[in-house]
Amino acid sequence: MVQLTKLVKTSGCAAKLPVGKLEEVLSSIKMERKENLLVGFETSDDALVYDLEDGRVLIETVDFFPPVADDPYTFGAISAANSISDIYAMGGEPSVAMNITLFPSCMDLGILKNIILGARDKAMEAGVVIAGGHTISDESIKFGLAVTGFAQKDRFWRNCGAHDGDVLVLTKKIGVGIINMASKADECSSSSKVEALSSMLTLNKRARDIAIKYDVHAATDITGFSLLGHIYEMASSSSLSFDLDFSSVPYIKEAIDAARLGFIPSGAYSNREYLEDKVENRSGLKREEEDILFDPQTSGGLALAMNEEDALSFIAEFGSPARIIGTFSRRRDKTIYF
Ligand code: CO
Ligand code: CO
Repeated sequence: MVQLTKLVKTSGCAAKLPVGKLEEVLSSIKMERKENLLVGFETSDDALVYDLEDGRVLIETVDFFPPVADDPYTFGAISAANSISDIYAMGGEPSVAMNITLFPSCMDLGILKNIILGARDKAMEAGVVIAGGHTISDESIKFGLAVTGFAQKDRFWRNCGAHDGDVLVLTKKIGVGIINMASKADECSSSSKVEALSSMLTLNKRARDIAIKYDVHAATDITGFSLLGHIYEMASSSSLSFDLDFSSVPYIKEAIDAARLGFIPSGAYSNREYLEDKVENRSGLKREEEDILFDPQTSGGLALAMNEEDALSFIAEFGSPARIIGTFSRRRDKTIYF
C-alpha cells in the first residue's frame, strides 16, 4: 500500500508558503475595494465576507495541501475538515463546496476516489455538499476545498475586535505538526498518531455551534501560522497585546519529546523567524516548548476571544480539551508575552 505522507516533504498546512514571503509579495499589490465586500484582502482574515443585503452575508474560503495522512480516505476527510473550518472561524454555517485536486496521472485512481470519498463524507457531516471542482494532473498529490457559507450580517466574527481584558479560549490541542513529522519518520507512538489524526478529523462545527450562543468578540482557527502566529494576528489587528499562559495550553504530550528530537516542520522555523521580534519569552520556556507554540497546525481548533464569564460557560458546555490560554490587554512593546 502506498503511504501518502511518504511521497511528500511537507504535510498539510505546514506546506504553506512562509508568511513573511507571502507578505512581501502581497504588500506590493494594491487590491481594489468592492462594494458589499465587508472583509477582504486587508485583514488576513480566515475568509471573505460579502453582504447579500437581505440580512445575511456570504462567506467564502479556499484551502488545499499535500497529504497529511497515509490513508487516502483519511487525508480527504482531514483536508475537508480543514477547509470548512475557515467558515466556522467566521461564525458561519458552511453550505456548498468545490474541490481542488492535483493528482499524478500515473497513480492508481482508486487513491483519488478514496480521497474524494473521505472529503464527501466529512463535508456531509458538516452539512456541506461538494458540487464540483477542478482536477489537474501533477507530480504530487494536493487536495482541498473552496467552501461557501452564510451567516447573519450582525453575527459573523472577524479576527479583530478583541477587547482589553478578554480571555482567549482554544478548542483543540496543538503539536499536531510536530507529531505528523515524527510519525512520517515512524518515530511516534501509535497513540499520539491516533490522537493527532482524530483531532485533525474533528470538525470545528460543535465549537462554532456552541460559541454563537455567546458574545464572541474575535475569532480565528489555528492552522499553518501556528498558535502564536494566529494570536499575533488577533492581538495586533485588535491593537492589543496578549499574555499567554503556557501551562494552560492544551497540547499532545509526546510533541515535546518529538520536538526535542528535532521533528520540527520547516514551517515552524519560518513562523519563529517572522514572529521572533513580536513575542517575548519571560517565563523561561524551553526551546521545545516554544517549538510547540510555533508549530504549524492542520485543521486546528478555534481561538475565541470573549469575556471570562462567557468563556467559562462555553468551556463548561464544550468540555475537554477547551481551555482559557491567556488574556488580551493594552498594547505594550511586544504583541505576545509568555
Ligand atoms: Co483560518
Ligand atoms: Co485558510
